[in-house]
Amino acid sequence: MLLAGALGVLGAITAVAVSVPADAAASTLGAAAAQSGRYFGTAISANKLGDSAYTTIANREFNMVTAENEMKIDATEPNQNQFNFTNADRIYNWAVQNGKQVRGHTLAWYAQQPGWMQSLSGSALRQAMINHINGVMAHYKGKIPYWDVVNEAYADSGGGRRDSNLQRTGNDWIEVAFRTARAADPAAKLCYNDYNTDNWTWAKTQGVYNMVKDFKSRGVPIDCVGFQSHFNSGSPYPSNYRQTLQNFAALGVDVAITELDVEGASATTYANIVNDCLAVPRCVGITTWGVRDSDSWRSSQTPLLFDGNGNKKPAYTAVLNALNSAPNTSPSPTPPVSPSASPTPPVSPSPTPPVSPSPDTSPQPGGCSATMRTINSWPGGFQSEVTVSAGSSAVNGWTVNWTWPGGQTISSLWNGTQSVSGSSVTVRNAPYNGSIAAGSSTTLGFTANGTAATPSVTCS
Ligand code: G3I
Repeated sequence: MLLAGALGVLGAITAVAVSVPADAAASTLGAAAAQSGRYFGTAISANKLGDSAYTTIANREFNMVTAENEMKIDATEPNQNQFNFTNADRIYNWAVQNGKQVRGHTLAWYAQQPGWMQSLSGSALRQAMINHINGVMAHYKGKIPYWDVVNEAYADSGGGRRDSNLQRTGNDWIEVAFRTARAADPAAKLCYNDYNTDNWTWAKTQGVYNMVKDFKSRGVPIDCVGFQSHFNSGSPYPSNYRQTLQNFAALGVDVAITELDVEGASATTYANIVNDCLAVPRCVGITTWGVRDSDSWRSSQTPLLFDGNGNKKPAYTAVLNALNSAPNTSPSPTPPVSPSASPTPPVSPSPTPPVSPSPDTSPQPGGCSATMRTINSWPGGFQSEVTVSAGSSAVNGWTVNWTWPGGQTISSLWNGTQSVSGSSVTVRNAPYNGSIAAGSSTTLGFTANGTAATPSVTCS
């Protein structure tokens, strides 16, 4: 009580910025992951949004959502050139209105193609793929931080491509998909997503690794690799999983665990997986493929964190504890250093410079600038994006600052760590996005309560 009183007096005198207490353990998966600038997500089915037991858990625990089936090709373009976003938007709107982000899944895939696409080949199929990517990404332009552009393009053995109608249009179909996606929504991070790519020694893992390496060397726009990580007796969690994540990240891409489930849901295995992600600065988040065991595509394997009655399983506690044990980067002015093997410039270990008092938002040589825009709004709330741009020199660690004009409050923020003092907001880079090449930019996003506003943003 004496300490609290003393702190209260100190706070009143000096008006020191208040940030999240460094040692407070978060009580939900999303909040716990956010402490290190990461997200914790789940797959969501539109047909379960009316199940309040389901939505209560999903809303409470997760801050990232993937549509389990509703953004796939057969759902979004059931007839050629007739796009349907009814169920995809139900999930998108539910997520955003509850302060969550959405991962896009998926734009080009051999499976879940509508009948009309299955019967196409050659240049007609190639053009249909391009048209599909453009149609879906235009609908969600600026709203989806990560898109699984291409899903499961590698064969289960041998390390080569999977045979499919898309593959038969020519080996360049994957890079065409990524270039199309970049042009369609330059703000989205573009991912390749696959399963059985977790064990570093497996040929399939090496095949995908070599593709990403080749893409990076030739400037094909790829930003991230998703590891589905459906673990079971035939494809168990490998002891070299962390090495796999690290090696991909060292190519200069974000990595994410995108569809996690573990047969039997061993608490130890789940904790190991979380710790592996936490050990890799560019591992941006983890998504489990469903909420409760009864929601899983492999429900008989009881592979998720909640049982069929919605109770937390031992694996849930193991995951939460692991996330809470991660270094709390939120109040830290110095983001962790990237792995030295990474070809991307490592984040500077020197302290971030103080916030500039100047409201100048134009790009400065050797400095940075930032702008805010509203992505979406609804009664009582809104979603915004802040673009942080480097000037003529690379930026290694950034801080942006703004002041709310009308009592707005942030409910959820991603791709950065925030501290709030009254109406003043300060956001520093997350562990994985502090480095911005000269002339390039990165984005952070948030949902907030109140009336949408776009105050000027300073960057240092
Ligand atoms: O909705 C229909 C229903 O009306 C019909 O009566 C029933 C009859 O079979 O089918 C229902 O659709 C099923 C759909 O899931 C919704 O439950 C489809 O048959 C079924 O094929 C579909 O399975 C999905 C599968 O992808 C298809 O490839 C799973 O839900 C989904 O979890 C799974 O997700 C994939 C990822 O996208 C990629 N990685 C692997 C992962 C697991 O397979």
